[in-house]
Amino acid sequence: MSDLHTDAQLSKLEILDRKNQEALLGGGQARIDAQHKKGKLTARERIDLLLDEGSFEEIGKFVMHRSKDFGLDKEYYLGDGVVTGYGTVNGRLVYVFSQDFTVFGGSLSETHAEKIVKIMDLAMKNGAPVLGLNDSGGARIQEGVVSLGGYADIFYKNTLASGVVPQLSAIMGPCAGGAVYSPAITDFILMVQDTSYMFVTGPNVVKTVTHENVTSEELGGASTHSAKSGVTHFTCANEVECINYLKRLLSYMPQNCEETAPALPYESGLDEARPVLDSIIPENPNQPYDIREVIEGIIDADSFLEVHQNFAENIVVGFARLGGRSIGIVGNQPAVLAGVLDINASTKAARFVRFCDSFNIPLLVLEDVPGFLPGTDQEWRGIITNGAKLLYAFCEATVPRITVITRKAYGGAYDVMNSKHIGADMNYAWPTAEIAVMGAKGAAEIIFKREIAQAEDPEAKLQEKVDEYQQKFATPYRAAHRGFVDEVILPSQTRHKLIRAFKMLENKVDTLPRKKHGNIPL
Ligand code: HXC
Repeated sequence: MSDLHTDAQLSKLEILDRKNQEALLGGGQARIDAQHKKGKLTARERIDLLLDEGSFEEIGKFVMHRSKDFGLDKEYYLGDGVVTGYGTVNGRLVYVFSQDFTVFGGSLSETHAEKIVKIMDLAMKNGAPVLGLNDSGGARIQEGVVSLGGYADIFYKNTLASGVVPQLSAIMGPCAGGAVYSPAITDFILMVQDTSYMFVTGPNVVKTVTHENVTSEELGGASTHSAKSGVTHFTCANEVECINYLKRLLSYMPQNCEETAPALPYESGLDEARPVLDSIIPENPNQPYDIREVIEGIIDADSFLEVHQNFAENIVVGFARLGGRSIGIVGNQPAVLAGVLDINASTKAARFVRFCDSFNIPLLVLEDVPGFLPGTDQEWRGIITNGAKLLYAFCEATVPRITVITRKAYGGAYDVMNSKHIGADMNYAWPTAEIAVMGAKGAAEIIFKREIAQAEDPEAKLQEKVDEYQQKFATPYRAAHRGFVDEVILPSQTRHKLIRAFKMLENKVDTLPRKKHGNIPL
């Protein structure tokens, strides 16, 4: 607890030293020990792990709350439950706030919020990412509405900063009530397995309102939010892994919307033919394969950072490097639900596309999609509106955009998945591509219905018509004749072609019509 009355026996320099020592202890050694006992690091230990050694400069170390109610006039801690400042990650400037659970459970007071807003303002003015390490019991209950106002100030800044500088949220403890909405507005959320949770209302309220018995972990733990809700983009085994993910994520991003992401040195011509790609697509078009094998076959070794790995697994999204440059990849996943587009896959990919477009990260789309998922469940829950999000996101994206059709490009999904028609810069197809309104069997059954029914041997007639449709349309060549596909390429040439094409597109300038903002179908 901060000693407000400075000791007359101490020199001015000693007083400063004493205050500095006191601030470092947060809520005191006993609470630090309790934090460690839970398997959690302290706010300062997390910052030490995150930032380059010796680079942290703290801002607002001596800030204290201004509340008087419920005994708060007798309980003050320097810093007021959040450590804020700036430093570097791999030599690049970042702003950081790290909530200190040892001080009033990391709860957010008016002054705690002011400290966070202060570094967000600096981040926006100076064009550098904001990293939030969240570990908080929510609104400082003793403060009432001023604490709620503090949250709202942060939400407002999060929104203004969105698309200006990257904002990353690591959840390393509780995050409940309205507090969840600040991370939700930021670009990426990372949660730590077993020690973090996020929910709007906790298990007790849930029990009262819906009579459901559910634990905090089931309701809002890392596994739940990574696989069921998609709220978190990354699930980390522990805090160290979480911090490593933060650093790795940052390496693919520019500092702000005016810059491009840093590139690694790359010697062109090396390692560009990838014969392994020639044998990934199975003979049988209905047989699955793992799109990650295609991704790995194209990109720089070990450079793929998958986002949302456990959510909507029928689409794969993530960052990678190609010829040293950062790219965003969106790939249909034939190994899950045949790579069909459904509500979750559409919203997952749409958000990723918009992030990449906000921060000048070129997009590579790998397409093998049989269409949108049919059924009452999808229709009643709004596949129309949600599918439109992905369509809108691609249409609006002005970054370099390249598509490679590996196999199926059927129906509306052909249009949606970064087709030439909606602004893709280069569209390649492998010889195995099938670009058609639908699969050959479905098409033959509809357009030759009468002929098949009247045939002596309907089965044989159907097969004949399927073969006919397959030969005419289930190839990349009709689309290539039209120029909808720029080139049909050997899979093994893909890496080489993409490196050249992205280099060709690196100075691309494209603008949208003047508007206040578009109205994405939310
Ligand atoms: C003030 C708080 C606090 C809070 C915890 N503390 N939450 N102080 N305001 N919101 C204090 C405790 O009094 C305790 O102080 C210390 O932090 C640690 O808390 P414990 O309960 O001992 O820790 P633990 O058992 O780990 O439980 C953590 C917890 C629990 C699950 C977070 O403390 C809890 O349920 N807190 C209340 C959560 C809550 O209802 N918050 C308001 C949500 S509504 P001592 O002195 O003993 O160390 C909200 C609205 C935001 O946030 C709206 C924005 C729009």
